[in-house]
Amino acid sequence: MSRHRISRRLAHDAAVEREELIAGLQATPATIAPKHFYDELGCALYAAICALPEYYPTRTERAIFDRHRDAIAACAGRGRQFVDLGSGDGAKALAWLPVLEVDRYFAVDFAAEAIAKSLAAMAIEFPGIEMQGIVVDFTRNLDLGEDLGQRPTTFFYPGSSIGNFAPDEARRFLRDIHRHCEGCDGSGLLIGVDTKKDVARLTAAYDDPIGVTAAFNRNVLRHVNRILGSDFRPEAFAHRCLYDERAGRVEMHLEACRSQRVALPGTARDFAAGERIHTENSYKYTPEEFAALLRDAGYASLRCWQDEKGDFAVFYAA
Ligand code: AVI
Repeated sequence: MSRHRISRRLAHDAAVEREELIAGLQATPATIAPKHFYDELGCALYAAICALPEYYPTRTERAIFDRHRDAIAACAGRGRQFVDLGSGDGAKALAWLPVLEVDRYFAVDFAAEAIAKSLAAMAIEFPGIEMQGIVVDFTRNLDLGEDLGQRPTTFFYPGSSIGNFAPDEARRFLRDIHRHCEGCDGSGLLIGVDTKKDVARLTAAYDDPIGVTAAFNRNVLRHVNRILGSDFRPEAFAHRCLYDERAGRVEMHLEACRSQRVALPGTARDFAAGERIHTENSYKYTPEEFAALLRDAGYASLRCWQDEKGDFAVFYAA
């Protein structure tokens, strides 16, 4: 029998979300938080990005997981509950559930529809595992104490999603997870992080020649239109990506192709030709830098696995 339930822990209501979006759009430079990429089409486009030959992080991480699965499982321990942070379609967690002998699975994501869809399918595939969905914006805070209880837990944060936080926010987020792990022996964090490398390879991964990433970036404007009732025309903005070597991050922007006025609730935003909306940062770390960040966040015991080229790193931190 399949069993799963979904609880909503969104601390902010829709009105606050809208106000924050409008404030970001009115700022100079304008910004849209990357969490707004992930409407239904955005999730599908992200899945397509992960299949692109230029976007090496997903397949490289998968290869590290496949090659070192037993060693990683020995570190993480078996029979823990498993918290899939930013679970999306749940695909990255699938191979871990049997290997880690998980008895309770938490899908944690901002995208309620993605959780509902993935849990419905996973509950059938894994009838022996208790499944719970938690709809939460963990970019604000991660407080799952009520749901998790005092049980050994493996937190799972793959895909270098940690790179979408600024380093200070990443440290705070890693500390929040560490707080959950403290006092509960056998808990830890399995996390993937993209490494610093040749600029041409980094930018190719975020500006593929068939335009999937461009579509993903532009689609955020459609999502914003649905949230705000604004009238962005995605075709009037061009996808731009660059690597800021000093900050160690790939940036994505949407650049106005011509001057234009966009209607926002009760107001309007004029964009000059060439003006940009900053939509995403994707920070890259050397393994040493990321280990230092984990230590700073309170983790004393670290293990790291990499592919042969050092393109990606997987850490188990406790
Ligand atoms: C989800 N996140 C880790 C992706 C990244 O690489 O920063 C999102 C993405 N943006 C463009 N391509 C992929």
